Amino acid sequence: MLRRFTVSLEDKLLARFDRFLKDRRYVNRSEAVRDLIRKALVSREVEADREVVGVISLVYNHHQRQLQDKLTELQHQFHHDVVSTTHIHLNHDDCLEVIIVRGKASRAKALADRLIALRGVKDGTLTMSAAGPHLH
Ligand code: NI
Repeated sequence: MLRRFTVSLEDKLLARFDRFLKDRRYVNRSEAVRDLIRKALVSREVEADREVVGVISLVYNHHQRQLQDKLTELQHQFHHDVVSTTHIHLNHDDCLEVIIVRGKASRAKALADRLIALRGVKDGTLTMSAAGPHLH
């Protein structure tokens, strides 16, 4: 069931919010507010170290000595958390590896931090969504 509530905002803040909606292509304010609320709740789940699903993306040079071994070794250390890994050969030198994890937020962060810190990893990100029943 949808419920309505009223929000009071200063003109300036509302104008900035409306520009944000336009930039992000939101169809209306309600949809944008729902997303912002969900985002805030997800960060609370992460802070409370609840169960999350995470996506770790890594771009790395596969010529880097021993890097692939280290990437594999770390993922085996976190085998309870790793759900799936996809590897794409981007060009002659670079690979993209996308690792899907499920488990405590702190574990996802720990794995992502260690992978991203490896020598030869050019770019790395971790995004997390709440996996528990709390959001829905
Ligand atoms: Ni590759």
